[in-house]
Amino acid sequence: MAIHSEKAAGHVHTVILEFADGARQSVSCGEHEDIIASSLNHGLLLLSECRQGACGACRAHVDSGDYELSASVSSYVLTEADIESGQVLLCQTYARSDLELRLDYDSQLASPF
Ligand code: FES
Repeated sequence: MAIHSEKAAGHVHTVILEFADGARQSVSCGEHEDIIASSLNHGLLLLSECRQGACGACRAHVDSGDYELSASVSSYVLTEADIESGQVLLCQTYARSDLELRLDYDSQLASPF
């Protein structure tokens, strides 16, 4: 299966999403795919609006793991202090290792489809 060979090569990471109600969901995330897009590929519609790093609807906190945040993130939405404290915008976040993320809304707001 292609996804396993990509994971062995280090190109796909496991992203654990923990919602405010304690529910946890796991998605596989390619290095060239943001977390919102990866979640959609797993049938999970996370909160988002602009998908361009401008609105803040997809804000989350990284509890562990390495990631890259796109330079297109608006400093009005995510300040340097926010970034230093582990805040990210999932539409602009790319996994560089397995990640654990915390979302400040309940799992029922993320629509499975
Ligand atoms: S969806 Fe607007 S900043 Fe991510």
